[in-house]
Amino acid sequence: MFEAITQRRYLVGFKAARLTQQVTDVLVIGGGVAGLRAAIAAADAGADVLVVTKDVIEESNTWYAQGGVAAALNPPDSHESHIEDTLRVGAGLCDRKAVELVVREGSQRVLELLAWGAEFDRDPTKAHELAFGLEGGHSYPRIVHAHGDATGKEIAQTLIRCAKMRDAIRIAENSFVLDLLTDEGRCLGAIAVLDEKIQIVWAKRVILATGGAGVLYRETSNPRIATADGHAIAWRAGATLQDMEMMQFHPTTLYVAGSNRTLITEAVRGEGAYLVDRTGHRFMPDYHPMAELAPRDVVSRAIVAQIRKTNYSHVFIDVRHLPTEKFRTRFPTLTKLVDQFDIDLAKDLIPIHPAAHYMMGGVDVDDMGRSSIPGLYAVGEASCTGLHGANRLGSNSLLEGLAYGKRAGEDAAREALQNSVKFPQNLEHKIPESTRTELDITDVKSSLRSLMWRNVGIERQADRLMETREIITFWSRYVMDKVFDPATTGAAAIAGLELQNLLTVATLLTTAAFTRTESRGSHFRTDYPQSDDDHWRMHLLWRRPMETPIPEPLG
Ligand code: FUM
Repeated sequence: MFEAITQRRYLVGFKAARLTQQVTDVLVIGGGVAGLRAAIAAADAGADVLVVTKDVIEESNTWYAQGGVAAALNPPDSHESHIEDTLRVGAGLCDRKAVELVVREGSQRVLELLAWGAEFDRDPTKAHELAFGLEGGHSYPRIVHAHGDATGKEIAQTLIRCAKMRDAIRIAENSFVLDLLTDEGRCLGAIAVLDEKIQIVWAKRVILATGGAGVLYRETSNPRIATADGHAIAWRAGATLQDMEMMQFHPTTLYVAGSNRTLITEAVRGEGAYLVDRTGHRFMPDYHPMAELAPRDVVSRAIVAQIRKTNYSHVFIDVRHLPTEKFRTRFPTLTKLVDQFDIDLAKDLIPIHPAAHYMMGGVDVDDMGRSSIPGLYAVGEASCTGLHGANRLGSNSLLEGLAYGKRAGEDAAREALQNSVKFPQNLEHKIPESTRTELDITDVKSSLRSLMWRNVGIERQADRLMETREIITFWSRYVMDKVFDPATTGAAAIAGLELQNLLTVATLLTTAAFTRTESRGSHFRTDYPQSDDDHWRMHLLWRRPMETPIPEPLG
């Protein structure tokens, strides 16, 4: 049924010998927290590293992360408590080994960032003189933050600085990776647009750190580059993907018609903000004993239910009862945002709506970030380590990027330096010319995003998922058989290639959501509203050319 998705191996035809070639020990694709931490670790282990980023290196989901990074460093908080919170919120789908690894090693990585000059917010009365905030699902205030609500930017800047100080790391910005190169089942690099031309990058080891997939949805907190590229290229290369139905929706993004859905950090609720409906009713206590600090999936669904109940387009954050000046100092990014729209925090409510935020499914990896394809690693949002399960605990993703980034970078470097690899100069791929008509790329992308939001969003049901699959399959027939050649059509071709990636991952996400006939964490089926541990306490694993994912017990 999905030949257009299951049969396509490369997005462009090529003959390696005819293209400009580069060679590196370790190729890192992506420049967010996980990619940068991996690059630094690989360089420190003696490898020559090339980092390619889709935009400038600052443009990543990491840069926009507000709330912070969770680290159980302040007693009586403990690693055990953080582990238990992560497991509970993950709704039975976390892999304990991954959780323990990230919680224990991640907090050391946070202290390492501090030593590298990261300017985290301070409180001289707390452990390590760090200030710790609270977020939903956490039993203790353990969210380390910077400049109030600009934590991602501070971490990214620290890592970029560290990466640039290392001679062994080259950074190629404004690049676009088309596909991973494989031969005889091993990953050997990538074919990419670098310096505006298609090139081959041979690499002894490749680390995929491409970030998320929020652009699949009309409503998203993600930047426009988050087009699921890593998930799609890993799929085409034949890597095993896990739990692709698991997209996390953040409860609170600014809802102003015509503006971006900018994230309003959960830490705002951690500081005591309320969620109220159009009548001013504080509704979260009606839905969960933890009220506004319930896990994210619960809050997002409660907002949808309250929107339906009140027959309105959105709900509001209410901070009017909090001391305004203190609030403005604690959340400067949010303050700047609301000021632009003349929202007075002392008097006005802030309009909000949930939006797609974080892709929890991804490339299935082991404790070193190794995928099912020899030579290929995945870290960060492109990967599925088992940490997040069915619902990510807020502020655990930067932590995972740090912990797995270091592991994968060190392992990749060690492997690259110990093994010789032969790069097949005769590698080539041909794509037959399409005989079908063309669709308007911009139009399909916008329709796809609306369709995904309506039918594969916070609430899902079988008939709508089926219908969505049929529509995506129809579009795919006319889009996936084309070759968008960046060498000849530049930015227009990149838009076509991104759409091919989006259609691929939309198919995977929708099909996996259809397959999992239960509700668990962020995946809520109105036709199967309960969790079914007997049949579904399972991961869904999937690799090309299988047409459906298969359930597999937790590792
Ligand atoms: O609400 C937030 O600041 C988001 C944090 C996260 O996604 O981890």
